[in-house]
Amino acid sequence: MPADVLFPTDFRWGAATAAYQIEGAHAEGGRGPSIWDTFSHTPGRTANGDTGDVACDHYHLYPQDIGLMRDLGLDSYRFSISWPRIFPTGSGSPNQEGLDFYRRLISELRDAGIEPFVTLYHWDLPQALQDRGGWANRDTVGRFGEYAHTLATRLGEGVHNWITHNEPSVVTYLGHLLGTHAPGARSLRTAIQVSHHLLLSHAEGMDALRAEARPGDQVGITLVVAPVEPAGDSQADADAARLWDGLVNRWFLDPIFHGRYPEDMVEHYGENGPDIQPGDMERIATPVDFLGVNYYNRMVVRHDPASSPVQAALVQPTGRTYTAMGSEVYPEGLYQILTRVRDDYSPGAIYITENGAAYEDAVVDGNVPDQPRQQYIHEHLLQVHRAIEEGVPLRGYFIWSLLDNFEWTYGYGKRFGLIYVDYPTQQRIIKQSGRWYAEVTRENGVES
Ligand code: FCB
Repeated sequence: MPADVLFPTDFRWGAATAAYQIEGAHAEGGRGPSIWDTFSHTPGRTANGDTGDVACDHYHLYPQDIGLMRDLGLDSYRFSISWPRIFPTGSGSPNQEGLDFYRRLISELRDAGIEPFVTLYHWDLPQALQDRGGWANRDTVGRFGEYAHTLATRLGEGVHNWITHNEPSVVTYLGHLLGTHAPGARSLRTAIQVSHHLLLSHAEGMDALRAEARPGDQVGITLVVAPVEPAGDSQADADAARLWDGLVNRWFLDPIFHGRYPEDMVEHYGENGPDIQPGDMERIATPVDFLGVNYYNRMVVRHDPASSPVQAALVQPTGRTYTAMGSEVYPEGLYQILTRVRDDYSPGAIYITENGAAYEDAVVDGNVPDQPRQQYIHEHLLQVHRAIEEGVPLRGYFIWSLLDNFEWTYGYGKRFGLIYVDYPTQQRIIKQSGRWYAEVTRENGVES
């Protein structure tokens, strides 16, 4: 059946990846260690002890991967730059070999007619900067500015869309409160200070990128957002949902779009709140050209007095469908969060910079029949279209992910790709969902 739900003619169709999750070549080309090398090499931190040492070997196989992007009909590709490839020791002069790798990647993408969307920070801080306090140290904001300046001057010719940060909330809470992501810190005070420095560095990075920008270049930030609902009717559950929403959504959206942290959260954090210097909030509220939205699932929460920091715990609603990550399939949540972001924050443009799902894929006679993933994407795209019809300024959609890859603490056990990767041989196989997505990109739409 041909597509009858059509998208705007200039709508971008893409897929996304991140450096540490796909590149491998961890000790090649002058790259220094990142906090994720340290973390994944620490026993007990990742499933199976998996690391990103080799990953998808994209560092060597990128020409082939660009060929696969063409097979999928992508007109855009979101990837991140490995900061320790550019600044192996966190400061000093940039590593030419690292810059050359990205120059080649960018120029081959352009030759293939694929627009690069480049993320500066997808969680792989140079370990050398962590040794000096990492994101808890305000000095790292300045280092990020230098890094952004270097990318703008050395790679800017081929890049017109920049994303400063990917999901600062995950860096904040998983990296510095729960300790399940690198660098594995566990302190609320530190986490909240880190969130402030991440936001400040976003502003610093935007300034550096814009100083070198060409007409039409765009700079934004990617946040993971989710509708939050109370599990029950009690006031306690309602309060828990409000605070959870404050934690994951408003703590990042409010400063960027309104120039202030949400009052209820500031009150809730009390002495753990951030040290803010004069002028910080004004800088953080420097207007973005677009907001990147990552969406995976909604969050249903109940009051739980034992849970820090907001006395709320996640609940899995019964009778629903779940992915291999245990996240609920809830496509209408994408529509809900998009319209809410539009109503409360009015970004001038939005890209879905990540959306996708892990399933237990298997190769059957040389094919990967991943019907659930195809259905997941299809249902989410219908919600994206619904939001566009209602005036949400959506400009593009990127699937997480192009390839199966290193899924952080879950290692290689969770597969999100449109393309299957057989890790021992590095063979790639376009999954059924990938072949279907190629039709979507070709027809600029889906079936209703
Ligand atoms: C997002 C991350 C991305 C990937 C997906 C599944 O939170 O940005 O790197 O891990 O989740």
